[in-house]
Amino acid sequence: MHTEPHILELESVDSTNTYAKSHFDELPDGALVAAWEQTSGRGRLGRKWVSPHGKNLSVSLVMKNVENPFYATVVTSLAALELLGKTAPALEFFLKWPNDIYSGERKISGVLCEFTRGGEGTNGVIAGVGININLDRAELDAIDRPATSLKALTGLHYDVKKLLRELADSLIRYYIIYSRSPETVFAEWKRRNFVIGRRVEIEDASGAVTRVLVRDIAENGELVAERNGSTFRFSCGDVRITRESLDFRRLDGTGTDDSGNPLDTE
Ligand code: BTN
Repeated sequence: MHTEPHILELESVDSTNTYAKSHFDELPDGALVAAWEQTSGRGRLGRKWVSPHGKNLSVSLVMKNVENPFYATVVTSLAALELLGKTAPALEFFLKWPNDIYSGERKISGVLCEFTRGGEGTNGVIAGVGININLDRAELDAIDRPATSLKALTGLHYDVKKLLRELADSLIRYYIIYSRSPETVFAEWKRRNFVIGRRVEIEDASGAVTRVLVRDIAENGELVAERNGSTFRFSCGDVRITRESLDFRRLDGTGTDDSGNPLDTE
């Protein structure tokens, strides 16, 4: 893999992930497919991802040296988080398991990782990242879940082309760190993940919602959660952040239970 990003910029495409999957054999490891517009952008769990022309970052990273899609999520979401932190340093952004970046109660970025097979028995992962940059309030309100953008948060208009270069640098840097030391990127991703030590609601693939306390995230990416005193693992679904999750202090000895008593962190 080259340290200089190889970026393919498309004016308009259905989805950068779909394009990268169908051109997987021709694209080198670490290549980036970016588009100024996606006409059928895709999110997790069959959801749509809105990317009108020139308003957002829509990028897919071709990863030929990662077997486990979970680590593709780790690399990509850390790069997106780094870009947001550098671009708007006065704001707070956090990772929300499994693949989102939030500011307060609103989502600003999401990652969709897809396993793919090439022609000659090769395989890899296409890691797609979308970041809402210049979407305005009316466009955000048309999205069916609470969403935000850099512009909505700061009132400023951003140069999407410049941000693409910066995102590309961060993606390649984290991919290289991952290839040398997966445990380093995993530790950073866990540290920046909001959910550990918090009470959240989890929604499974059938839509059932359960209130849990998140104890940890396992090395395969599963959420380790606790409900009624028993621990279980959760892998497919979403975490919902509630006002209580945002108010609740983490379990670093400072959290409280439902009655306000200190939590047992042993
Ligand atoms: C999600 O939050 O559910 C994941 C959103 C992923 C969106 C990105 S934009 C670039 C790439 N191409 C797609 O069609 N989806 C991903």
